[in-house]
Amino acid sequence: MVKLFINEENKTGHIEPEIYGHFSEHLGRGIYEGIYVGEDSDIPNENGMRTDVVSALKELHVPLLRWPGGCFADEYHWRDGIGAKESRKKMVNTNWGGVVEDNSFGTHEFMELCRQLGCKKYINGNLGSGTVQEMSEWIEYMTFSGVSPLTDLRAKNGHEEPWTVEYFGVGNENWGCGGNMTPEYYANEYRRYQTFVRDYNPDAPIRKVCCGANVADYYWTRRVLETAFDHGEHAHGFMDYLSLHYYVHPFGWDVKGSATDFDAEVWYRSLNKALYMDTLVRRHSAIMDEFDPDKKIGMCVDEWGAWYTCEPGTNPGFLYQQNTVRDALIASITLNIFNKHCDRVKIAALAQMVNVIQSVLLTEGAQMIKTPTYHVMHMYRYHQDADLLESSLSGVNQIGIGEWTVPGVTESVSKDANGVITVTLCNLSADAAEEVEILPVNSGYSVLEASVVTHCEIHAHNTFDEPEVVSEKAFTDYRMKERGLVITLPAASVVLIRLKP
Ligand code: AHR
Repeated sequence: MVKLFINEENKTGHIEPEIYGHFSEHLGRGIYEGIYVGEDSDIPNENGMRTDVVSALKELHVPLLRWPGGCFADEYHWRDGIGAKESRKKMVNTNWGGVVEDNSFGTHEFMELCRQLGCKKYINGNLGSGTVQEMSEWIEYMTFSGVSPLTDLRAKNGHEEPWTVEYFGVGNENWGCGGNMTPEYYANEYRRYQTFVRDYNPDAPIRKVCCGANVADYYWTRRVLETAFDHGEHAHGFMDYLSLHYYVHPFGWDVKGSATDFDAEVWYRSLNKALYMDTLVRRHSAIMDEFDPDKKIGMCVDEWGAWYTCEPGTNPGFLYQQNTVRDALIASITLNIFNKHCDRVKIAALAQMVNVIQSVLLTEGAQMIKTPTYHVMHMYRYHQDADLLESSLSGVNQIGIGEWTVPGVTESVSKDANGVITVTLCNLSADAAEEVEILPVNSGYSVLEASVVTHCEIHAHNTFDEPEVVSEKAFTDYRMKERGLVITLPAASVVLIRLKP
């Protein structure tokens, strides 16, 4: 039997809520239709934001939202997205389907969305095709409270008070769509651009995100830090985070593979690739440790998720895909990894929030469904702002098919401010249940809440006709013992157990 040992006296880190962040780009039906329908839509909305989508997202306690891209960010010119909507400049969304972007969702609309969600703002600036002046003036437009032509313009556009911007990305994927730069060239550009990302409000400083590596490009991490890491007295505020992007493509970037049509071998192949996040975090962290042993810079995994071939019959540039039990497990595996590395991973953003890649919500006209990934994010919300506890598993077998092997179970454990322990477990087996004995050092806990996301079919997913096929259900398959409890994890499942002292 698998045993989970928990040392509830040993807090080994703090899980920042921002690890549970989201990302929404001007891509396909991610923002338009998925979130923003405009004030005149028949779809119920508040100031243009779909009320069904906002209310579902609020249940996740979304801590942070990254916008406007992605690759779109390095082609976005913020002045095109302010002022009267009818006179906003249109553009071609060259990255995503070549469609016309009418800029009706811009800075004011993004701030309104974050207000409704109650989340922090992570804005990604344009370094690839924008100027230093443009970036600097966007910051002034958003955050300056004094008198200037830009604050007058903001007031004229309906917002007299400044907003806060908690996080600002200085470019996106500048090794690729953000300008095809070398790490040295980007890092020098980073030094220059970030200088003009001014803190107009000393009580609410802007945290800067430097563009980090694609997957296992450790050379990028090293060269960027060698060039742009500031050891000096001005280090604070120079670089607060270094990003990392990693997507699970079961068959690689070119082929990707179907979101819903896969066999057990592809199941294990996909989960194996999700587990690779652990290697990436460890190896990039080891390089960061050489420059920043005190871990002042956070790792910001601001794009993660499973990216498949888009749904048949949909625009290939829109990246619309279904979401199955496999995605629930990929989310659970990844979030357990982030929790366990919370000493370094301080921000993460699932790509993307609605209708794009591994979404938590899908929409079709006025209909909206929650995906299996949504339900996992909902279970894991209890880890936000909790302390990571020392925990370990014994008796876990390697399982899988051929070269695609994985550990049978993964876990993470945290304790909140009220002393409640949250245990999240994932059974990676496609077909076998697993008994787990949970052993806290101290006895005397009772189960406060327990839920599960699973299905006997690994391809199971929700549709607009059947929206509840895979959902979070009460979990009852546990029995208390003198010391701890024994639970039976169903095959292909994610389980949440909350223990009350
Ligand atoms: O999330 C989709 C795209 O993936 C983003 O625009 C880009 O940053 C990444 O390559």
